[in-house]
Amino acid sequence: MAEQRQPHHRPIRSFVRRAGRLTASQQRALEELWPAYGIEYSGSPIDFEAVFGRRAPVVLEIGFGNGETLVKMAADRPDRDYLGIEVHDPGVGHCLIAADKAGVSNLRLVVHDAIEVLEHQLRSGSLARINLYFPDPWPKKRHHKRRIVQPGFLALCADRLAPDGSMHIATDWANYAEHIDAVFAASEHFDCAERREHQGDRPLDRPVTKFERRGLRHGHSIVDWRFDRIAL
Ligand SMILES: C[S@@+](CC[C@H](N)C(=O)[O-])C[C@H]1O[C@@H](n2cnc3c(N)ncnc32)[C@H](O)[C@@H]1O
Repeated sequence: MAEQRQPHHRPIRSFVRRAGRLTASQQRALEELWPAYGIEYSGSPIDFEAVFGRRAPVVLEIGFGNGETLVKMAADRPDRDYLGIEVHDPGVGHCLIAADKAGVSNLRLVVHDAIEVLEHQLRSGSLARINLYFPDPWPKKRHHKRRIVQPGFLALCADRLAPDGSMHIATDWANYAEHIDAVFAASEHFDCAERREHQGDRPLDRPVTKFERRGLRHGHSIVDWRFDRIAL
């Protein structure tokens, strides 16, 4: 599991909280723009209609990094609402500045472990799509248990997606791609609707991301997938 609760043990998380330095403008954005875009983590489900002031398909991005991709998608699709989850404060500050500049009103952010947000703050069947772009690869074998893509994560995502919902994933790590193929192949919750290998030139229904560009600079290939939820 990306996060396993074991008695007397801390949960295994898919991230390490890094004490990244905030720029002055990111700090200001966290103070001034958070009230407009932020949703505090809580144990009770988010009421999307109340938050966005309308009923529209909701797209979730897990681990949005600096938010470049998330803001662009929200700006490109004003007919959808976007929820981003991230734990890295400088990335959140960067995203808030980009959101403000783009003037998007269909975007909200939560700063917390995405697993707990999915578990406690998102209702069953409430999401149209989940995007997971370039999740932390945890390359060392002893760290593979930290990878967010695990059978329990898929079951949780499947439950929070609408019956015709889908998951979009991309990675630039060949070994993580094998892992993703294997975990989805064994899942009763998803069908692989598309799998695309490319060199950064054919992203699947998404803009290029910061970590994708970094991977390409290191000579990595990219794999993109769309997995459709199987309504059981
Ligand atoms: C490798 S970065 C990719 C960022 C971005 N998607 C991109 O492609 O540029 C992975 C991000 O996922 C975030 N992350 C990892 N596990 C998370 C979790 N359980 N909840 C929220 N964010 C998480 C990390 O903080 C990090 O910013």
